[in-house]
Amino acid sequence: MCGIIGVIANDPAAPMLVDGLRRLEYRGYDSAGVATLDHGAIGCRRAPGKLNNLDEKLRAEPLAGVVGIGHTRWATHGVPNETNAHPHVAGRVAVVHNGIIENFRALRAELAQKGVTFASQTDTEVVAHLLDDLLEQGLSIEKAMVALMGKIEGMFSLAFLIAGDEEVLVGARRGAPLAVGWGKGEMFLASDAIALAPFTQQVSYLDEDDFVVVRRDGATFFDAKGNRVQRAPVNTQLSGASIGKGNHRHFMEKEIYEQPTAVGETLARYLDPVAREVRLPGLESDLAAVPRITLVACGTAYYAALIGKYWLEQVGRMPVEVDVASEFRYRNAPMPEDGMAIFVSQSGETADTLAALNYARSQGQTIVTITNTETSTMARASDVVLPTHAGPEIGVAATKTFTCQLSVLLALTIACGKARGALEGDKLHAAVEALASLPSQIGKALRMEEEVKAIANVIADARDVLYLGRGTSYVVAMEGALKLKEISYIHAEGYAAGEMKHGPIALIDEHVPVIVVAPSDELFEKTMSNTQEAAAREGRIILITDEEGARQAGDLPEHVIVMPTVNPLISPVTYAVPVQMLAYHAAVRKGTDVDQPRNLAKSVTVE
Ligand code: AGP
Repeated sequence: MCGIIGVIANDPAAPMLVDGLRRLEYRGYDSAGVATLDHGAIGCRRAPGKLNNLDEKLRAEPLAGVVGIGHTRWATHGVPNETNAHPHVAGRVAVVHNGIIENFRALRAELAQKGVTFASQTDTEVVAHLLDDLLEQGLSIEKAMVALMGKIEGMFSLAFLIAGDEEVLVGARRGAPLAVGWGKGEMFLASDAIALAPFTQQVSYLDEDDFVVVRRDGATFFDAKGNRVQRAPVNTQLSGASIGKGNHRHFMEKEIYEQPTAVGETLARYLDPVAREVRLPGLESDLAAVPRITLVACGTAYYAALIGKYWLEQVGRMPVEVDVASEFRYRNAPMPEDGMAIFVSQSGETADTLAALNYARSQGQTIVTITNTETSTMARASDVVLPTHAGPEIGVAATKTFTCQLSVLLALTIACGKARGALEGDKLHAAVEALASLPSQIGKALRMEEEVKAIANVIADARDVLYLGRGTSYVVAMEGALKLKEISYIHAEGYAAGEMKHGPIALIDEHVPVIVVAPSDELFEKTMSNTQEAAAREGRIILITDEEGARQAGDLPEHVIVMPTVNPLISPVTYAVPVQMLAYHAAVRKGTDVDQPRNLAKSVTVE
């Protein structure tokens, strides 16, 4: 959840570190800090709050030196103040850390007995003291790292700066990503290759339990026992431009507008445009025989998985179980022999989803991951990876990765239906055409922006919003409610329209906007009956539907967003667009921090 960067540069390190941290800030933004090596001595600046605070501090109190480490934090242990901000310095060692050191209390007590005193409440500071202690005992950096890795438990990526004449950075990973960047006469470390995009595209990823010693002339990789290992560089294809905001006010807005391209790029991998066939390399042969698919994810990715369940069951005729990862991982679910478990994750690093994956592996399932990060821990731990090609998503609220995940899940559904004899002939053809039409249909949905914006102004002042839908539209309603909560801080509930009368209807009065997601599909009439019930309690009905739905709804709604008419199969993808835009414009109207909403982080690598 935190962002880490390290540089051995030709130019002053501090501005480069801050520049790299800007691209990592979406991972956490409670506090930030940098440390550099100047004539062998460590200098450190830290500041609570956004990166700009650190930037200002560095202008007032600059740091010299061309070697350094930096960090942007999402607090786990200790409040987000300056003392708890990273880097933490102990003797010759400065450290930045992403993750959790689970046995830090025991280690802290051990060190305290030796007379060590601690400045912060963090688990991280313990690591700095431990490494300093090991180096003080005369161990080489490599031997000290082997000993350190043996002592600390939990999941982490770490970057160390070591005082002395040598230009050296040390990195380590267990359960959280770390990459080494190869520049021209410069070397880098980062928790995410995005941070390095302007500096280099040549990146080596550490494997689980690796550590690395980085010097100006290159990097030497070791496994946890200290054996040298090779981690060849790969080209990330990330450019500085691909992670800018372009002409948009916010990353979220840019990413909403990138959806036609992102989905198109993703489909290029799964759809043969000439043969009009879905292709799922590595999976097709299994789909006929699999007794059940288990889908697991968190947050928005969970909603993609839930829509996947509706599709796979109804169209693919596949039994499916779906759960949020934080529940699934601890409920010891029996899993069928020869079953398949599919994990959906933009980052591929979410701690709960990764733990669920490991559980499914222990139950003998075929492991499949749908992810936007092909180099992620989950991707590496999978039998089959189904990548989304959304490009970097910087806004904390997931948008384009959601519709890309849905595109992959629909391709999977079609492949499943075909393999299980449920989709043939015209039905199969229509499903493939609907899938292929996604980029252009999302493009049409984006043209609704002005209409949506006007309605966002209506809901921006509400205290509570109720989102309703049935079938896959129920899931879109939940995603719409999540988006509203995340970025506009409006309390919103996404509810199954038919379930509303069993409780939430009590919330409705003349102040509550009730947003109904209802394309004119086979569930439309039922949804309209529930909408009548909400209207009868004076709820302010906002209907998102198509032309036919608007005609049938008559004057029941106060506002209508009339969407392009699509094959009902793909409506959850196209209807995702107005719910994203509603949240976006409500947040802009309220003046919240759209891309970095309070308390959140892009990738949640702790439990
Ligand atoms: C979505 O807007 C969220 N920020 C969040 O729910 C996210 O989808 C969730 O944390 C899962 O992340 P992942 O896809 O990287 O696993």
